[in-house]
Amino acid sequence: MLTLTINQKKYNVDVPPTTPLLWVIRDTLDLTGTKFGCGIAQCGACTVHLDGVATRTCILPVSVAVGKEVTTIEGLSENGDHPVQEAWKEIDVPQCGYCQSGQVMTAASLLAQNPNPTDQDIDQAMTNICRCGTYPRIRQGIHKASELMAQKG
Ligand code: FES
Ligand code: FES
Repeated sequence: MLTLTINQKKYNVDVPPTTPLLWVIRDTLDLTGTKFGCGIAQCGACTVHLDGVATRTCILPVSVAVGKEVTTIEGLSENGDHPVQEAWKEIDVPQCGYCQSGQVMTAASLLAQNPNPTDQDIDQAMTNICRCGTYPRIRQGIHKASELMAQKG
């Protein structure tokens, strides 16, 4: 039995320690906002935060998450009002939406480390793939979120 802390809630899960964290989040705990894309740590659809840092979970053994704070898109904010979520709505970033929880989680982690990123910082941090090509709006959305964060102080 492994104990995980996800979105500030404790879960005991009876899975082999090598099970990918993504499987546990989606299949065992039914937190399906985090998506499966490539399964080889290339696309970023499966991104969550581990102790605040954007982490791809599709090949990450669940045992690595024990003792860490896991945050999924469901726990990023109480009411969908994290500055990145607000900016995403305002700019209308998503197209099909499939990649977007991973994009939002990666953007939130970037802004926590660097509240005012340049285009270059954004391009460096945002390596998540979007099949719909929403990259220009993602970039705009991050700048908007940065503004919102500065306004909130
Ligand atoms: S599903 Fe994990 S990086 Fe693509
Ligand atoms: S919005 Fe469709 S894959 Fe990114």
